This record gives sequence, structure tokens and C-alpha cells, in this order.
Amino acid sequence: MTNFNIIPDRRKIFNKNKWTWYDKDILPMWVADMDFPAPKPILDALHKHLDHGVLGYEIPGRVLQETVSARMERLYKWKVQPEAVLTVTGIVSGFSVAARAFCSPKMGVAIQTPVYNEFHEVKNNVGIPQIDIPFVKSVKKNILTYEIDWDLFEKRVKKAGIFLLCNPHNPLGIIFSRNELTRMAEICIKHDVVIVSDEIHSELLLDGNKFIPMAKLSREIEKHVITLIAPSKTFNVPGLFCGFAIIPNKELRDRYENELNHLRLHVASPGLHAAQAAFSGKCDSWLAELNRYLTGNRDFLVNYVTKNLPNVRTTIPDATYLGWLDFTQTAIDGSPYEFFLKDARVAVSEGKIFGKEGAGHVRINFGTSRAILKEGLDKMKRVMEAL
Ligand SMILES: Cc1ncc(COP(=O)(O)O)c(C=O)c1O
Repeated sequence: MTNFNIIPDRRKIFNKNKWTWYDKDILPMWVADMDFPAPKPILDALHKHLDHGVLGYEIPGRVLQETVSARMERLYKWKVQPEAVLTVTGIVSGFSVAARAFCSPKMGVAIQTPVYNEFHEVKNNVGIPQIDIPFVKSVKKNILTYEIDWDLFEKRVKKAGIFLLCNPHNPLGIIFSRNELTRMAEICIKHDVVIVSDEIHSELLLDGNKFIPMAKLSREIEKHVITLIAPSKTFNVPGLFCGFAIIPNKELRDRYENELNHLRLHVASPGLHAAQAAFSGKCDSWLAELNRYLTGNRDFLVNYVTKNLPNVRTTIPDATYLGWLDFTQTAIDGSPYEFFLKDARVAVSEGKIFGKEGAGHVRINFGTSRAILKEGLDKMKRVMEAL
């Protein structure tokens, strides 16, 4: 059994990280990494790699491709040819490469807002238009839900070169259903838009929820999809920067690989060794425990907000370790992110970085011990009471 209540100190690491970015007295509940050590099989693989002593060039080969392909078959019964698996230096570079390959100054990137801040950067590093497709927000009591406006989706997505899907969704915690995914895919196929499905959070499933990769829906849909996955969020190794682009359609894959090769993006060997261990299956019992712990944290967060933070609204995320809180109906004047940073000494993520719909909202990272989550929420509660 892993004890997720024990959190190692990261304040002494010399590089900047979640715990040293802000002043010492600030409790960090922002960037999307967790406070837990990676599972032992990954750490063992890294120790073995380092103990060898020679850290020469290593290029990912067939073994790693087969491991990724076997994981897709085991988790989803999705049969992927090993050669369809390309290694990328993380998912952000993975979708930027897709934008380079399939977008142009006329055919940009379509995104569903509010969404992960790096989705908003693609336009800048590639020089293409960004097409926002806002979700429709609803509130029942204090619970937020977000849905797709289908007419708007079709009207906007057809102008894009790629539709960059975030599933499960950061920061909203949505797992899209088979019907929703099929409808999105059919519209994209009708308008010849390449689907880039960022599935980095796909194994962080709360309540034992199930996940369906977009490309698994049908062989026809699969031809139009670039699937991006990584062990980084699931096993808390994002600092190793290793991810995978799965592209079964050879024509798409050749275009993607061409761009990838031009950029000369290589994953450092520890990332490759960690990914092999992470996707081998040896860490799956750790992951099941993690998802139970995170489900408890999600419940704690939602109950805490409901009972103790009047007029604050929250999502009930189905996946990820990210909560989304709406302060627009409270007495906080201006940005709640700045308010909590200054007055509560808690760093959450500014809602506006996820799109203009995020004004008055914050994202909170609950991938930490229950005690730290409670401490952060208590600090937020105290300053709200003093308003
Ligand atoms: C949806 C999503 N995609 C990508 C990333 C980052 O991926 P990477 O660090 O592999 O570039 C994150 C990190 O928070 C994320 O939430």
C-alpha cells in the first residue's frame, strides 16, 4: 500500500518547481504535477539506467513502441501497429508539431474553451489563427457543468486545420462520452479537419470511470486522429518529458514525422526508460490506489466548497486531479487568483489563462495529501470570511 499522505519536501531542489516558484510561505496548488513520488518500478528502472553509468545517445526503438501498443490493447482493446507510435518530447511539443504539419495561416487550431493554457500558445509558436469554441456553462445549486454547443462546434471547427481536443478535459475534468466523441469526429471528418486528441489525463480516472480513446471509436475515425498520450501525468514523471503520438494513418504519420524530424526533438534517455517501466503494467496497482486517493480528494474538495464556501461553484471532475472553482458570485473584487495569492498565501491557477471564460474562476490542483488540500482550503475560507 502506498501512503499518499506522505509528501517529500521539494523546496530544497535548486531548479524552480511547483514549491519554489513563489515565496516560501505560499502553499502551491497550481501547476499540474502531483506531490507524490513516482511508483517504485519507475524509480527502479531509473536507478538501473543510472547505475550503468554510461549515458550515451539512445533513440527509442521497437521495444518501446511495442510496449505502448500493448498498453492500448490491454486498456481499450485498441489494436495499434507498433510503427504507428512515435516518441515526442511531451504532449505540448506533440500538438505543436501537429499544428506545423496540418495548419496554415488560413486553417488554424480549433479549441474548446476554457481549456489548458498551452492550447492557447499553439497559435503563437506556429503563426496560425486560433478558433475558440466555448462550452455552454450551466449551474445547479453550486455545481457547474459544461456542454458542447453543437451548432457552434460545426460552424467554427470547419475553419480549422486541426481540432485540438482535450479529453479528459483540463481544467473541467470532463470525460467525453462515446456519443459526444462520435459526433465531434463525424463533424471533423465531414470538413476534413485533422483531430489531435490530447489524452494525457486518460488514466487518471476517478470513481472507477471508463475512458474511450477518440481513435478507438471506429477504424474510419482512427484514420483522422493523432492521439497524444504520456506516462507523465499518470505516474507523476512530467519532468522527464516523454510522450507518444499514435498515428495509425500512414499518410498523416509521414507528414507529422517529417515535421518532428525537422525539429530534432529528442527525449533524454531517462524519459525513455521511465516510460518503458510506466507502461509495462508494473505500476498499475499503484495507479489504482492513486485513483482511489484522488477520488477521495475530489470528494473532499467538492464537499468542502459546498459546505464552507458560500456562493462558490465547483465542477465535479470525473478525471484528472484538477478542480475548477467559480468565484463570480462572491464578494471577491477582481481576480480570485490574485486575491488568494496575496491574502491567503495560496497559489492556485488563474482562470483567465484557460480563456476569457475563465475570468473569476481558478483551477485548483488536488494531487496532494488530504492534509495539504485541507490546509489550502482552510486558508481560502478564512480570507473569504474576512471579506
Ligand atoms: C491537457 C494537457 N496536455 C499537456 C500537458 C503537458 O504535457 P507535457 O508536459 O508532456 O508537454 C498538460 C499538463 O498539464 C495537460 O494538462
